[in-house]
Amino acid sequence: MSGQRVCVSDFEEEARKVLPKAVYDYYRSGADEQNTLADNVAAFNRWCLVPRVLRDVSTVDLSVSVLGQRLSMPLCVAATAMQRMAHPEGETATARACQAVGTGMMLSSWATSTIEEVMSAMTSSVGSEGVLWLQLYIYKDRELTLSLVRRAEEAGYKAIFVTVDTPYLGRRWDDMRNRFKLPTHLSMSNFSTVSLAFSEGDYGNDSGLAVYVAKAIDPTLCWDDIMWLKQHTRLPVIVKGILNGDDAAQAVNHGVSGILVSNHGARQLDGVPATLDVLEEVVGAVQGRCDVYMDGGIRRGTDVLKALALGAKAVFIGRPVLWGLACQGEQGVTELLELLKEELRLAMALSGCRSVSEVSRSLVRRVEFNSRM
Ligand SMILES: Cc1cc2nc3c(=O)[nH]c(=O)nc-3n(C[C@H](O)[C@H](O)[C@H](O)COP(=O)(O)O)c2cc1C
Repeated sequence: MSGQRVCVSDFEEEARKVLPKAVYDYYRSGADEQNTLADNVAAFNRWCLVPRVLRDVSTVDLSVSVLGQRLSMPLCVAATAMQRMAHPEGETATARACQAVGTGMMLSSWATSTIEEVMSAMTSSVGSEGVLWLQLYIYKDRELTLSLVRRAEEAGYKAIFVTVDTPYLGRRWDDMRNRFKLPTHLSMSNFSTVSLAFSEGDYGNDSGLAVYVAKAIDPTLCWDDIMWLKQHTRLPVIVKGILNGDDAAQAVNHGVSGILVSNHGARQLDGVPATLDVLEEVVGAVQGRCDVYMDGGIRRGTDVLKALALGAKAVFIGRPVLWGLACQGEQGVTELLELLKEELRLAMALSGCRSVSEVSRSLVRRVEFNSRM
């Protein structure tokens, strides 16, 4: 591990220096005034850990089962679009890093590498299939949408995470000011036409991505479409973007295999709660009928531990992976994931937890007045 990078913010600082401004802005930004962006991170300081002692923590088992796959830790990689803007190897480098560390990766529909390419990058590094899930945007063109699902099934992906919080793109001021577009040598590789691949075109005086979404993504999406998706795939379907107990209960009633509590990294509707703050409500509504995962603002091993204590089966990270990728490609992402893994191992040991199953609700307590930790 490099001597200088001792925490996730060290990676961000280095990434900020190497990335073109419009790319860094796109990766970092949240919607509107970015109140939720800050709150996703701040929420972790509203909970403190209450450790147990004298428990022989000489070995700590971080492994966990996620959607039927054994992973080395309860921390996985969330879908983030267009990773080749961060590093020439983009998603393929991230996939190899996940394989090296033993965790799973959710590939964005808007990847700059194909579904097949990413699976073969993950597989060829060790010869056995890695754990990949496809994040799915539902397009107005349903045949096109199903073709992504088919390709994921054929390539050996293990689940579909359908994003339900993006009928339109949130207002991300930096992207609007920068008129964000993909650099001309890149495209959303899973699509064959220029307009769907976001590679060229006139996007006016706006965030190019917002214009793309308004043209291509289906804003009529409703619960029936979750049934429709389930009818068209044998893979488990997880809904990504649930923020309250009522929607969680609806999701369970529609037979989903899991719920990902997410506010899209605070990039959609500003002013929504931090994901950590709604996790317990969702877990309570689900009552064990499907798995609950969460993402948003996780930057430290102690953050992972707090989310597990509040009922998440595993958590996902978005931006930190992009910082690792920008710093040093596959090596950078591997180093970042190993860092968080080690932070989690230490946090568990210092809390008296020898395995993930020993992490319970009694480990965390709400801090009423925000004391900085
Ligand atoms: C640059 C960027 C691109 C993203 N692209 C997608 C995407 O294509 N599909 C999706 O469902 N979520 C996307 N997300 C949201 C992430 O999957 C995840 O919910 C979020 O990043 C978690 O928060 P964190 O960045 O604080 O860890 C993106 C997030 C970022 C930061």
